[in-house]
Amino acid sequence: MVDLSTQYLGLKLNNPLVPSASPLSKDLDTAKQLEDAGASALVMHSLFEERIETEARRHERFFHQQAIGHAEADSFHPLHFDYDSYQDRYLEKLHQLKMQLDIPVIASLNGTTPEGWIEYGKAIQQAGAAALELNAYYIAADIELTAQAVEEQYLKVLTELRRHVSIPITMKLSSQFSSPLHFIRKLEQAGANGVALFNRFYQPDIDLESLLIIPKINLSTSAETLLRIRWVALLYGRVKLSIAVTGGFHTVEDVIKALLAGADVIHLCSILLEKGPQQLKQLLNELAYWLEQHEYESIQQLKGSLSQQHAINPADYERANYIEILDSYSSSGGVLR
Ligand SMILES: Cc1cc2nc3c(=O)[nH]c(=O)nc-3n(C[C@H](O)[C@H](O)[C@H](O)COP(=O)(O)O)c2cc1C
Repeated sequence: MVDLSTQYLGLKLNNPLVPSASPLSKDLDTAKQLEDAGASALVMHSLFEERIETEARRHERFFHQQAIGHAEADSFHPLHFDYDSYQDRYLEKLHQLKMQLDIPVIASLNGTTPEGWIEYGKAIQQAGAAALELNAYYIAADIELTAQAVEEQYLKVLTELRRHVSIPITMKLSSQFSSPLHFIRKLEQAGANGVALFNRFYQPDIDLESLLIIPKINLSTSAETLLRIRWVALLYGRVKLSIAVTGGFHTVEDVIKALLAGADVIHLCSILLEKGPQQLKQLLNELAYWLEQHEYESIQQLKGSLSQQHAINPADYERANYIEILDSYSSSGGVLR
């Protein structure tokens, strides 16, 4: 029997397949199906900073109006202490998942400023989350903002949380940093225990009929994995952080490549939304079969064996490969001569 276990954020997981933050964790039955299909941990959907703020504003307005006085309404408006906030509902869901599942549940905070997170971080820890994933999902749209200021913002949120929360913290990052490896090392020094590479940014689209900018969600394809695999290969062995990949992992081949590059776990989302929890079982069976066929005894044996530090030609992960790729292009008949 091949040993599929892996270490992630200090947790020993049965295998490297972990459903990432998505609506799948909102439904307890679906979460249970994921566990039954072999998920080794579960990342919850996020608690969003904007939603907390919007609700807080609405809440304030509501009680302000009540204080001004509508004598009749006072009797049927819910009282302050009955109020079940967005955060309370998130913590309740975390609690239910904890009760329902044997696998570790990782909570997710999604926001860009440190304010407020400390409190929620602590509450999430108390509610029994095995770890905390922090997703800054930040678009640097201000022309005055320097790259350094963006990095400092990430570090500030992390540092604040680290001071108050003792469970492992992992950062879900964008690929759009000038020097991702250096920045990740800074995150490690600031107390991060892991990184998830990379956020998929949803690109707004232009509707040519209405000329409106419309939000659009497209699920991923395997083509997106190579960006992640390259940066994992470059990172592996250079930090002690746990490494997760997220974005485009659909097939067993995608999963194996990420492990060879050095990933500790592979996050799955689009494939599970498309094909359902059972797909996880299929991927695990295929992974075990591939390892057996290629005479590996464990994931550990495979992990990082094609990272840059172990590659026969390390430059393949850098610019050298760029020239080879351009040179290797051959046009389809009749286009270029
Ligand atoms: C419908 C949907 C909801 C998502 N919700 C969250 C979320 O709440 N928090 C978060 O950090 N990522 C969220 N994600 C991103 C996924 O966790 C994942 O990182 C991304 O989809 C890339 O993985 P994939 O290619 O396997 O889909 C969501 C993705 C989808 C498609």
